[in-house]
Amino acid sequence: MSVMQQLSSPISSSSSAFLSHSSFNSRSKNVSVPAKRIGICKCVAVPQEAQTAYTTKVSRNANMAKLQAGYLFPEIARRKAAHLLKYPDAQVISLGIGDTTEPIPEVITSAMAKRAHELSTLEGYSGYGDEQGEKALRAAICSTFYNGLTVTQDDIFVSDGAKSDISRLQVLFGANVTMAVQDPSYPAYVDSSVIMGQTGQFQKDVQKYQRIEYMKCTPENGFFPDLSTVPRTDIIFFCSPNNPTGAAATREQLTQLVKFAKQNGSIIVYDSAYAMYTSEDNPRSIYEIPGAKEVAIETSSFSKYAGFTGVRLGWTVVPKILLFSDGFPVAKDFNRIVCTSFNGASNIAQAGGLACLSPEGLKAMRDVVGFYKENTNIIVETFDSLGFKVYGGKNAPYVWVHFPGRNSWDVFSEILEKTHVVTTPGSGFGPAGDGFIRVSAFGHRKNVLEACKRFKQLYK
Ligand SMILES: Cc1ncc(COP(=O)(O)O)c(C=O)c1O
Repeated sequence: MSVMQQLSSPISSSSSAFLSHSSFNSRSKNVSVPAKRIGICKCVAVPQEAQTAYTTKVSRNANMAKLQAGYLFPEIARRKAAHLLKYPDAQVISLGIGDTTEPIPEVITSAMAKRAHELSTLEGYSGYGDEQGEKALRAAICSTFYNGLTVTQDDIFVSDGAKSDISRLQVLFGANVTMAVQDPSYPAYVDSSVIMGQTGQFQKDVQKYQRIEYMKCTPENGFFPDLSTVPRTDIIFFCSPNNPTGAAATREQLTQLVKFAKQNGSIIVYDSAYAMYTSEDNPRSIYEIPGAKEVAIETSSFSKYAGFTGVRLGWTVVPKILLFSDGFPVAKDFNRIVCTSFNGASNIAQAGGLACLSPEGLKAMRDVVGFYKENTNIIVETFDSLGFKVYGGKNAPYVWVHFPGRNSWDVFSEILEKTHVVTTPGSGFGPAGDGFIRVSAFGHRKNVLEACKRFKQLYK
């Protein structure tokens, strides 16, 4: 690949955010708009100054070179761009990217607006805050999400989102740890591990990186890995309710996971970014499992509860009793990393977070979550009625549709070609995702209904 080609090809990403940025240009455009208005040429826009043959003497980080450029999301973007060239008037609907679409409830934005205005006053101005987050917000997160779970407010580190925290946690662990992930899983775990240098090369034949344990999660095992076959790793990333499968682990399963971690002396990084979508009796937090505080970190986010994907606010819990092998508290090192690489979440976002956790804010968040869950039901019913095996949906805003024996990319292309709806091919989340399509429930109701109408026409 020439330097120019490398510069103009979309950059690989660990997240569905890249469904939108350069080629899709539609992070906030889940409304069906005439395709012509979507800036498809942006995907190949190269800054003028980049068009030079001059190279520095700095060698590229070899770990970056291991990443699978163009593997999932840039490839989706490329295919969508090609689709828009072919059908310039198509009303494209994106149910691919996991980005929220509904307005942030007024009770929350008004608190942010108030805080913003206070910053213009002598009395109300504040600059850098505590890196760990404002005390009131840490207390509110603790009492709302960890009530009765012996998590204390100083175990909580407020952040600019769970994704940044995943990378900060990887910096905390360093290059020499081994890690396991659910297969399929949210791509940020694997990509941040590659960037940190924890892995070997990507093995094209099996679609896996060396030195990562891929814990297969399929309908056959109820989307929970057979831990008796999983080798010991230092770190276990575990997301429940899961993106992309929508599966939520049961109390018994999480009890097994904690026991497994304890036997192996591993640390679990538990991602509960979708916990509020849980309808059934599944745990909302890993700390509901006895003993979890000795082996687990939990990361979570306001993104999918309150439409904060753009506002940016999340948190990570690192219990003080979680220790490295030499007895050093993990929280102390994490605090050091947070203080070194992060100056705290935006004070305006934190005011929003606090409003989210007021009684009115909580009700408003439940309504937002409820709205997306209705979308989920519509999507589930649609694929159900068409005779597909459908998973997820009950406890997560993602529907995982099975197309047995088919290549996920072929199904993705078929749906895009015939319905102008963008989904996500399951294989992009890991090799065990092949044969599946993830349909996101984040969308305006009319778009979801329209997409479902088109699915029905295609597969009737
Ligand atoms: C499982 C999971 N964790 C974390 C994130 C990122 O959350 P945030 O917006 O807080 O960075 C996402 C976003 O899609 C996700 O699906």
